[in-house]
Amino acid sequence: MLVQVQLLLLSSVLFSCISNGNAGVTSGFVRNEWPSIDIPLDNEVFAVPKGHNAPQQVHITQGDYDGKAVIISWVTVDEPGSNRVRYGLSEGKYDLTADGTVQNYTFYNYKSGYIHQCLVDGLKYSTKYYYEIGDGDSSRKFWFQTPPEIDPDASYKFGIIGDLGQTYNSLSTLEHCLQTGAQAILFVGDLSYADRYKYHDVGVRWDSWGRFVERSTAYQPWIWSAGNHEIEYFPYMGEVIPFRNYLHRYPTPYLASESTSPLWYAVRRANAHIIVLSSYSSFVKYTPQWEWLEKELKKVDREKTPWLIVLMHSPMYNSNDAHFMEGESMRVVFESWFCQYKVDLVFAGHVHAYERSYRISNIRYNVSSGASYPVPDKSAPVYITVGDGGNQEGLALRFRDPQPDYSAFREASYGHSTLEIKNRTHAIYHWNRNDEGKRVPTDSFVLHNQYWGNSHRRRNLKKNNLHSVVTSVPLSQRS
Ligand SMILES: *[C@@H]1O[C@H](CO)[C@@H](O)[C@H](O)[C@H]1NC(C)=O
Ligand SMILES: *[C@@H]1O[C@H](CO)[C@@H](O)[C@H](O)[C@H]1NC(C)=O
Ligand SMILES: *[C@@H]1O[C@H](CO)[C@@H](O)[C@H](O)[C@H]1NC(C)=O
Ligand SMILES: [Fe+2]
Repeated sequence: MLVQVQLLLLSSVLFSCISNGNAGVTSGFVRNEWPSIDIPLDNEVFAVPKGHNAPQQVHITQGDYDGKAVIISWVTVDEPGSNRVRYGLSEGKYDLTADGTVQNYTFYNYKSGYIHQCLVDGLKYSTKYYYEIGDGDSSRKFWFQTPPEIDPDASYKFGIIGDLGQTYNSLSTLEHCLQTGAQAILFVGDLSYADRYKYHDVGVRWDSWGRFVERSTAYQPWIWSAGNHEIEYFPYMGEVIPFRNYLHRYPTPYLASESTSPLWYAVRRANAHIIVLSSYSSFVKYTPQWEWLEKELKKVDREKTPWLIVLMHSPMYNSNDAHFMEGESMRVVFESWFCQYKVDLVFAGHVHAYERSYRISNIRYNVSSGASYPVPDKSAPVYITVGDGGNQEGLALRFRDPQPDYSAFREASYGHSTLEIKNRTHAIYHWNRNDEGKRVPTDSFVLHNQYWGNSHRRRNLKKNNLHSVVTSVPLSQRS
């Protein structure tokens, strides 16, 4: 049965991804589920854990380049308390310890709790660890599973969520993603939507979101990227430093990939090389983000990590009226690299709907011929927009008509995606719609790796990379 389904999926992929001749699908399915309003603060989903100074808003993220470390974060509200994580290989036996740091900050007249961050490193691969934080009767216990060692044939399951917020639809997305057994979450920006509030309530809604997502974030590492709702530029209340709440609360392992900013970085996990970009930081030629990406792409070793995945907030291909063309400037700067390095998938959010592209590129722009439109390109990534996590702004219901040639499938419903990497050549992808409280896999296909799936492209990539390494001019010699 499974084999039959896979064969079916395979043939539909051959049809949809390789021969681009057929028109894309605009699904007429629209289900708003619940009104797009934030869950009231007294709802149990935001419950404060019991006990004096009990840790809350617990979340973990990868702490190094290769997956042998995690950063554990939590907040205490009564007093700073301990910065220590006690951990071990069985429940109740926490014979190892790591010590972190604590900080607090103000945002207008809001005072944050004590934010703890602790790097736990030197972990074993493919191992379940149990951990405990907090003091005495108020301590709390969680667990996490480390990824397999970096290996081209490792298998791993990612969940992909964007633009989540804290509504009943957000809750449905979160619960559905937990049901899939996704081992780590690729988050494509716009976390709490706390910026929809004013003054003191902004900080309050960052705190409530931290408690809301803890059911997943305390156990599965979330790979964070920042969206426009993280900017929080509020001159009217004297808060003008971008990303302040986000950066205080959601650390990333950016130093491990030699990045100079927590907003863009890379991690390797199982057999995936994941690159996180910042749509709201400068990225044109010679900016820090551009310089970093140029170097990081050269570090990608498809013999070790066959799957190359890029995360950003604003999509480079989007045929929804919402945010139409907003990703265009980043497309102009980075798209040729994505094709040169044969990126497998680019995930974005921002648009509150689902959309998947064919493998297309628009890098042949020629001023004298006037040619400038996307064409089928086997070296190009598949672009997927999953900004449909369910935040309070609601769905982006208006798609452009007619559906452009580059758009393969689009639907304005809430949901999330999963990417189940099987080995170096195959991965199974699903977009899961939230349908009357149920998770319904809707846009599903088998993905062939851009490097291992085709020996010709593999040879080309080797040749191109060598070429680009040889001809690149060292920084110091640039004028
Ligand atoms: C941080 O906490 C300390 C101790 O409670 C307090 O004195 C200080 O004002 C706080 N700092 C900020 C920036 O809120
Ligand atoms: C651009 O288009 C013109 C006219 O079609 C053609 O002669 C020229 O070779 C093209 N240039 C490049 C770089 O492709
Ligand atoms: C990779 O996984 C796919 C799908 O499960 C399977 O058909 C294929 O034989 C596997 N390839 C290798 C090299 O193991
Ligand atoms: Fe956004």
